Amino acid sequence: MSKLEDIRTHALSLIEGVSDLLVLDNARTKILGRKSELSLFLRSLKDMPLEDQKRVGAAANALRAELEELFEKKRREFSSASYESALKHERIDVTRPGLKHARGHIHPISRVIKDIVTIFSSMGFEVVEGPEVETEYYNFDALNIPANHPARDMWDTFWLRQNEVKSEKSKVKSDRLLLRTHTSPVQVRYMENHNPPLKIIVPGRAYRYEATDASHEFQFFQLEGLVVDRQISIANFKGVIQEFFSRLFKKKITVRLRPSFFPFVEPGFEVDISCVACRGAGCSICKKSGWLELAGAGMVHQNVFKAAGYTPGEWQGFAFGFGIDRIAMMKYKIPDIRLFHSGDLRFLKQF
Ligand code: DAH
Repeated sequence: MSKLEDIRTHALSLIEGVSDLLVLDNARTKILGRKSELSLFLRSLKDMPLEDQKRVGAAANALRAELEELFEKKRREFSSASYESALKHERIDVTRPGLKHARGHIHPISRVIKDIVTIFSSMGFEVVEGPEVETEYYNFDALNIPANHPARDMWDTFWLRQNEVKSEKSKVKSDRLLLRTHTSPVQVRYMENHNPPLKIIVPGRAYRYEATDASHEFQFFQLEGLVVDRQISIANFKGVIQEFFSRLFKKKITVRLRPSFFPFVEPGFEVDISCVACRGAGCSICKKSGWLELAGAGMVHQNVFKAAGYTPGEWQGFAFGFGIDRIAMMKYKIPDIRLFHSGDLRFLKQF
């Protein structure tokens, strides 16, 4: 019994000195573990006389229970103390204001696209998109640019790979894949599935395999427009495009059409607008001409209608296409197209 008393005194003083959970675990092994004095003592009970065994055994088990409870109590104290201290030191104040100036904003190109879409939507145009990876058929053939036609050289193309696919109408078409060189292929894609009357715009990326400089990028944005009905004329086009540019630049713009050639229109023309900087007087931006060359356009070629599955001669329409980057450069006086994709925050933060 006095041996048990010694074990108890020793254990209590050891537990008294414990300062954290880890030390507590070590102390527990020392006092209650398989090789502890108490365990050895319990195992030695069987060598005692029977009447002692009962009395001493009961006392030893009681001591064991007492110490176990004590450890459990200490453990609870320590863990709630460490929880309390974590709450105090690791508290997150969700009511504190966030970091200032960390908010991004829309890219100048996206902003111009948004403005363009808003204006055309208000005039009843539907916004349509098409794939950037395009087939040779939609990019060229369907637009009346047959293989070996010299006009095909007007576009330097990123070719992708040969692909054996069949069109929806299951005619085998020329189907090498490429990155579209313009947004015009969406004209035919749309008309294949929609009947006139129709008014659409197609904003999107286009790609050309060419060296870059201040006014050329190998990727850029275009806006395609297409209006088809029974009686659509160039006068309609001029009215729409003049209204559009006037609203976009927030000043009266006049439009000038010059004859030009694009295989998918007949007649075709270049679209100039009165210089947004000098209003036609002549300045460095318009190279003293008073005009800015901005778009290509024309009356949709009947072969394009044929490719879309329309009866030739039944419909008329105009189409146009221009570079969105160039418009953004004019609107925000940006001298170099390469800045748009530079990711340079000093540039981007100005808008
Ligand atoms: N797709 C032509 C280009 O990328 C631009 C263009 C010209 C589009 C005339 C048209 C058009 O719709 O009628 O240079």
